[in-house]
Amino acid sequence: MEEDVTVGGLLGKSIVSVDDMSIADIEAVFAIADDIRAHWDHYYGKASGRIAATLFYEPSTRTRLSFEAAMQRLGGGVISTWDVNASSVVKGESLADTARVVGGYADVMVVRHPWDGAAKLAAEYSPVPVINAGDGKHEHPTQTLCDLYTLREHHGGLRGLRVALCGDLLHGRTVHSLAFALARFGANIIFVPGEGNEMPGYVLRRLAGDYHAHIQREQLGVLSALFDTGPASGEGATVDAIYITPREPHQLAMSSIEGTTVQFQVSSGEALSIYVTRRQKERGNVDSGRARYPIVTPETLKASQFRDISILHPLPRVDELSPDVDNDPRSLYFKQAALGVPVRMALIWHILGLGEEGPVGGKRPYLRSVEGLVYAGPGFDCSNETCVTNQERRFTHPQFEVVRDSGYKLRCLYCDLETAATHVGNTQSHIYYPSELLDRIMPSMLPEHVRFFRSSDAAEAAGFRKVADAWDKYHPEHAKGGGSWLDMVRGRQA
Ligand code: NCD
Repeated sequence: MEEDVTVGGLLGKSIVSVDDMSIADIEAVFAIADDIRAHWDHYYGKASGRIAATLFYEPSTRTRLSFEAAMQRLGGGVISTWDVNASSVVKGESLADTARVVGGYADVMVVRHPWDGAAKLAAEYSPVPVINAGDGKHEHPTQTLCDLYTLREHHGGLRGLRVALCGDLLHGRTVHSLAFALARFGANIIFVPGEGNEMPGYVLRRLAGDYHAHIQREQLGVLSALFDTGPASGEGATVDAIYITPREPHQLAMSSIEGTTVQFQVSSGEALSIYVTRRQKERGNVDSGRARYPIVTPETLKASQFRDISILHPLPRVDELSPDVDNDPRSLYFKQAALGVPVRMALIWHILGLGEEGPVGGKRPYLRSVEGLVYAGPGFDCSNETCVTNQERRFTHPQFEVVRDSGYKLRCLYCDLETAATHVGNTQSHIYYPSELLDRIMPSMLPEHVRFFRSSDAAEAAGFRKVADAWDKYHPEHAKGGGSWLDMVRGRQA
């Protein structure tokens, strides 16, 4: 992934995904956060006359209050909606309209919303920059800034650090943003999900595709201490360790051999952080009492290999992190929460250009950079019910990245979830095929002539006719595979 190294790269920018910030942007936030902590007084009044609007349509304590404290410590004002039932949403107002209107009252808008992709929609309509404070199960980029800042300070850097992301990796938005950022900073990631709460496929595919991560399965080893009893502590339980293929090889990546299942161990001198998260009950992850789930207790921490670890948690905690470890020097989560204020002050500082001479303002258009082929054909809906494209149809413009995995899939550019595109049509012939045939009929199909469908019924409803059965007979040279259609298109575009 190309890094944007422009100084002042955050000015007027919306932060929807952690990927909207380059490494240089994140370093610039940390540099100001460091300075704020050394000279709080110097920063007071810098945002005088500016207003932040906080639109919180989901419960929040830390994120909203630390953003509001951040703005007030900069001397700016805050307007806030934090009870959805007291806003025009109950009258049926769209998020797009709310973003347009509230953007007229403020210089920056901080949005938390239960719908995946809501922050992108707000960023498209708001006249001022939007900061995503958590959109459904999708992303939470500013929590990641707090996490990285805490880890960097405690461990002295991120490159080569190992971070075990534990708990609800399926519904937890903090771990999605954090995984992408850790990958970019050259840290190694270990996934220790609760049973049935594995990291979604789209995150793994992006880690491998966009960040050149190398995924290896290991046996839990010392990490089995995170499970008190049950099958996970027994033989055979594995974790996915994600090693980032480095530009300059470092020891960990070189020693990892795909396909072997070694025990996860921590040798002396290797830094490990355990990042604990709660079950996201509000997103359907209800504790059945039977599914195993990683927890941290004083017992867990007795393993000698955990002597130098750090423990992080975005909070709130429920029962996955015992209060009995709160006073342990390895526990950093309250510090992590407190650092939310200087980190968010620094982010606002850069977005509003508070260090610039004279007044600056405004917003850069929100554009999402995509590595692969973008598809914006009509009639294809994201299969994620809680995606903003299915909730605010009149205001969203669905776009997808074409992904080739076991079959063709379309990754929604609002919520990132992938939907299987089982059928594909040719807009010139109006014939449709099972999408696996796309690879056989290449190179004839140009992307502009392709229509993807979620089912044969959808293709028929759009006026396409089914392909004659004996397709292989006419194109035997492609029937045996080779590259995929997607590879062909990419090759042509390169
Ligand atoms: C997290 C969130 O809202 O996603 N909390 C936070 O912002 N500190 C984590 C959670 O709610 O579990």
